Amino acid sequence: KKILVLNGPNLNLLGVREKSIYGDQSFEEFFKSLKARFADVDLSYFQSNSEGAIIGKLHEVGFEYDGVVLNAGAYTHTSVAIGDAIAAIKTPVVEVHISNVHQREAFRHHSYLSKNCKGVILGFGLDSYRLGIESLI
Ligand code: DQA
Repeated sequence: KKILVLNGPNLNLLGVREKSIYGDQSFEEFFKSLKARFADVDLSYFQSNSEGAIIGKLHEVGFEYDGVVLNAGAYTHTSVAIGDAIAAIKTPVVEVHISNVHQREAFRHHSYLSKNCKGVILGFGLDSYRLGIESLI
């Protein structure tokens, strides 16, 4: 199986940014443990702070891969275009969030992506990504 983990804006600063919310592990470090855990899965990782690059990546893998685990960061709450990209592709997308966005500011309670995703996993810290991969397998 081919699965892409796709991270959006500011998630390159995991382990540095707002540690009380997002923890102190970098994603690169965490991704190594995901690779080891899912050794039989062809797991790849892409991060971008740019909306266009995220959409481009969805187009690139979206007719070929078996699944995408997507944390679009703040674009979750703003991007009609990423929502449309998910609807446009064939590959199922699982939306994930590290934090429980429903315990946070009201502007984080709405997602433009969820409707077009296979499911949503949130609030389990980095383990949300592991659960997202499990769900696709
Ligand atoms: C996030 C939640 C978003 O509201 C926020 O903008 C992020 C991270 C999460 O994983 O908890 O950047 O997607």
